[in-house]
Amino acid sequence: MRRAVPDEHFLIGELTVASYRTLEVDHLWGGYADEIRDVAGRAETTQVLVARDAGTGGPLGAVTYATDPESGWVEWAEPGEAQFRLLAVSESARGRGVGETLVRACCDRAVADDCSVLIHTTQWMPAARRLYERLGFTRRSDRDVPYEEWAHGEIPDLPPVWVGVPFLAYTWSPRR
Ligand SMILES: CC(C)(COP(=O)(O)OP(=O)(O)OC[C@H]1O[C@@H](n2cnc3c(N)ncnc32)[C@H](O)[C@@H]1OP(=O)(O)O)[C@@H](O)C(=O)NCCC(=O)NCCS
Repeated sequence: MRRAVPDEHFLIGELTVASYRTLEVDHLWGGYADEIRDVAGRAETTQVLVARDAGTGGPLGAVTYATDPESGWVEWAEPGEAQFRLLAVSESARGRGVGETLVRACCDRAVADDCSVLIHTTQWMPAARRLYERLGFTRRSDRDVPYEEWAHGEIPDLPPVWVGVPFLAYTWSPRR
């Protein structure tokens, strides 16, 4: 697990889009797949971390750790809160602790940055939610983002199943 290098950006983008495609409900509306594929773009203002296969060196999973509100990858956070986004492990590498390693790496970075962690997930990401709860994240319904807040303006390709659905918040802080 380490920071991704430019040669890995293409594969990380594809891996992340493919991982999101395994979810039971489409999460790639609103041009999100293109945004996800721009790994080089977000690597300028965030830390894109990659977990690699020890043998082949190929990417197994990735996550984006962000603290800079100007990056465009920090959403609905308060000062002193780091975020991670786009946690994804390729389907064939799941259930081996890769996701946990990536989340722990973000938490370690948050500790080093003297931040707590705020993330948002969805009701259709059960594996991620189990992972967060196992690692001591706290479910924070008070920090959920209601549909009315995130869905401002028209999103032409928004699947109807998303209407009225909030983003679900979790926070994590180190035990001091
Ligand atoms: C969420 C996601 C990243 C988890 O990745 P992962 O690498 O499978 O995560 P882990 O291996 O750490 O944990 C997954 C399961 O494997 C189990 N596990 C971990 N290491 C294991 C091992 N060595 N042996 C057996 N089981 C193991 C965990 O206990 C966990 O079980 P559970 O799901 O029944 O609770 C992955 O499912 C994914 O990419 N999902 C789609 C994208 C997504 O939802 N992203 C979240 C954005 S908020």
